[in-house]
Amino acid sequence: MMSDVCPIIGVDHLEFFVGNAKQSAQFYSRCFGFQNTAYRGLETGERKTSSYVMEQGEIRFVLTSAMVGDHPINKSVMKHGDTIGVMAFQVPDVTAAYRYAISQGAVGAIPPTEQDDEHGTLRYAAVRSFGDVLVKFVERQAYSGPFAPGFVARASVPGPNAGLKRIDHIVGNVERGMMDRWVEFFQKAMGFELRMHFDEQTISTEYSALMSKVLQNGSKTIVNINEPADGLRKSQIEEFLDFHYGPGIQHIALETTDIVQAVVQLRQAGVEFLPIPKTYYENLEDWVREIDVPVEKLAELGILVDRDEDGYLLQLFTKPLGDRPTLFFEVIERHGCRGFGAGNFKSLFVALEREQALRGNL
Ligand code: FE2
Repeated sequence: MMSDVCPIIGVDHLEFFVGNAKQSAQFYSRCFGFQNTAYRGLETGERKTSSYVMEQGEIRFVLTSAMVGDHPINKSVMKHGDTIGVMAFQVPDVTAAYRYAISQGAVGAIPPTEQDDEHGTLRYAAVRSFGDVLVKFVERQAYSGPFAPGFVARASVPGPNAGLKRIDHIVGNVERGMMDRWVEFFQKAMGFELRMHFDEQTISTEYSALMSKVLQNGSKTIVNINEPADGLRKSQIEEFLDFHYGPGIQHIALETTDIVQAVVQLRQAGVEFLPIPKTYYENLEDWVREIDVPVEKLAELGILVDRDEDGYLLQLFTKPLGDRPTLFFEVIERHGCRGFGAGNFKSLFVALEREQALRGNL
């Protein structure tokens, strides 16, 4: 099995390239409940970039901005706006993972590199993925420091805890006709297996359509790739590609075991979610059968439900995190169901298109 050739232990972190990491750290802390656990910047002797490691449950984000005008991170910010520039996976052997990916056609970005400090040795390497996204391999079994050499531990007071536990899935948007190329990249070079396929019939509204493939690694790391399909008007994927100036990461689904508590907390902290039409809840009880949360509560908080033969899931989506209609978060609570809310795609996309029309992009 390929996942034995390129074993992935799990998501190590996602690195966001942002215009102002200091202020972003406040946003993810106060609105989403992340804690700043490590830092690297001028005070630690780093002159070019400033990075904040933000953690909640098993989720680890790194927010990085550049202090030098022509730094590649500033070029990324200028082109894409704030975006996720690095998708980092933990592996048992960086050199083996990197060599294997390259042998399968991946393009190298950072050759296997070793960094030491008093906490041990951290190894990493990276290959290119869709758009300007790097896939980084991180080997940290021999490293016990706060994040990586050069970082110092911090224990900032986090915002109110939203109870977000782990990354459930990562979704990338690529150009029309490119989905299969990148699905193949994750299959061949990274050992993922194709788990589901949604065609444009499943995911379409009156106006727009998209196609999506779901990939999973042995470690349960899930990556979905979307591409736009023909519709009467511009699809949400095309809107993303236009404003992001190319492919990139569209959303990160964050898993919680108590979505009601999470959403109450997040809303109180000022997080904005996609509004769901009340009509969505009218016939909900007829088809979802028993769920732990009363339908009135779901309607009040704008939470969506989907069900498959294994169980159900509850989910909802934030509005874009920045000014550009690009990156957003999903909050998800699973009860057996291993799907992604296909039953909600239609109502969700209608809601998305309403927002898209407000932005003058439909
Ligand atoms: Fe999702």
